[in-house]
Amino acid sequence: MPIDASCSWRRRRLLAAAWSLAGVQVLAPPHARRAWSQRFQVNPFTLGVASGCPRPDGVVLWTRLAPEPLNGGGMPPENVTVRWELAHDERFRNIARQGEALATPEFAHSVHVELRGLASDRTYWYRFIAGDGASSPGRTRTAPAPSAEPRQLRFAYASCQQYEQGYYGAYRHMAAEAVDLVVFLGDYIYESSWGQKHVRKHSGPEPTTLAGYRDRHAQYKTDPDLQHMHALVPWIVTWDDHEVSNDYADMQSQYLEADFVRRRAAAYRAYYEHMPLERSMLPRGPGMRIHDRFEFGRLALFHVLDDRQYRHAQVCPNPKFGGGSTLVRDATCPERSDPARSILGSAQEQWLYAGLERSRARWNILAQQSLMAQLDRTPGEGVSHWTDSWDGYPAARQRLLDCFAQRKPSNPIVIGGDVHSHWVCDLKQDFDRPESRTLATEFCGTSISSQAWAQARNLELLPDNPHVKFASSERRGYVLVELSARECKVALRGIDNEKDPQTGIATQARFVVEDGHAGAQAA
Ligand SMILES: [Fe+2]
Repeated sequence: MPIDASCSWRRRRLLAAAWSLAGVQVLAPPHARRAWSQRFQVNPFTLGVASGCPRPDGVVLWTRLAPEPLNGGGMPPENVTVRWELAHDERFRNIARQGEALATPEFAHSVHVELRGLASDRTYWYRFIAGDGASSPGRTRTAPAPSAEPRQLRFAYASCQQYEQGYYGAYRHMAAEAVDLVVFLGDYIYESSWGQKHVRKHSGPEPTTLAGYRDRHAQYKTDPDLQHMHALVPWIVTWDDHEVSNDYADMQSQYLEADFVRRRAAAYRAYYEHMPLERSMLPRGPGMRIHDRFEFGRLALFHVLDDRQYRHAQVCPNPKFGGGSTLVRDATCPERSDPARSILGSAQEQWLYAGLERSRARWNILAQQSLMAQLDRTPGEGVSHWTDSWDGYPAARQRLLDCFAQRKPSNPIVIGGDVHSHWVCDLKQDFDRPESRTLATEFCGTSISSQAWAQARNLELLPDNPHVKFASSERRGYVLVELSARECKVALRGIDNEKDPQTGIATQARFVVEDGHAGAQAA
């Protein structure tokens, strides 16, 4: 079944160049070539490989066949058998598992191989073979056994990678950090074209359909630095608004679009197709459960949250748009404090509280989208809050803080993104009383490439927000975390220039949280 790829020679050359950048092996190994007679005109593994959802006995392997990634994928409307191999060694001499998966047009010829029964805390290598094409190899690792006491866990987390505003040089540096895991906290793609000084362009208009979202995901996945980071370690992912549309809340878009349910369903499905997610996360209609827990022995438990799908709509919206967020003065928007309002939805709230209470992990990491600490955004006189983050849902935040105080999970650490700046905050029992107890520690990370507001604006907010220990919008980058029994060490990493793919990097600040003592200390 040869594939009649309609790629021009120039396009093929471009794709070939992209492969050599990513170090992709273009031909299948000889034994596979004999067994698999299908011939591709162009290597279909243009989007690389990925692994995710690491469990003590398994992991998900992902790829997608897309010889023409920016144009619907370029595959015929047929099922294609893809062979996969999991090996103990990077030369694939000692195969641990192998099998076949079906890449179907219904799921854009994506492949999700959900493995179970593997050894815990073990590194594996994997690759895919389709016809005479083979993917580049990927490396992954299972989580430690539930009863294990790992000496350390080293992970990086990231968010907000607007493709046009910068290259992904941050991932090139992350790849050199020897992390066990990447956690991605939202805005993996952007639906809209915005910002200044673009270094590259989205290939199509703002997506609203499944075909549009597929092409947008595919374009982001063509980036060689992003592909390389996916191939190195497993990722745990959650989303924010831009995977669908700016500031959406549950079934409501910022502009109150009439057919938003259909748009959200298309966006969620394309997201599933492009991420290493488990079958349990398969979208059903416009819904897709992505919140979950991931444990790393007794050392760490990640509570991965979804603050978009089930939230109440933002209060006091800008009348110009109808929905979405604004900066509101407290005096003009008392409904912000309505106790009925939730950012997680009540089912997810109860699931989170129960999980925190049951947790036996030393570090409880809440992996979520946005800034959780209260932030008065009016310098000096007057108080204002931004309604899209947890500040739009103060009663829900207080319920979570009360859960920390009453159920006493060990060492809650909140990680987030969304605001394109590094923020380090003490999460207080009562933010308006600086002397009140610190119940948890928050590290909100800067963006991979999305632009931020001026640092001067952050600095003028600090006097009114004494629980903020550090704020910097000056650099794009990521956050590096090292957990041990004694402490949580955090390095805020910032690249010199997101417009330069060969950019340098610096550590902007280091903090430490000691076991049993909430609150960040400068290190
Ligand atoms: Fe963002």
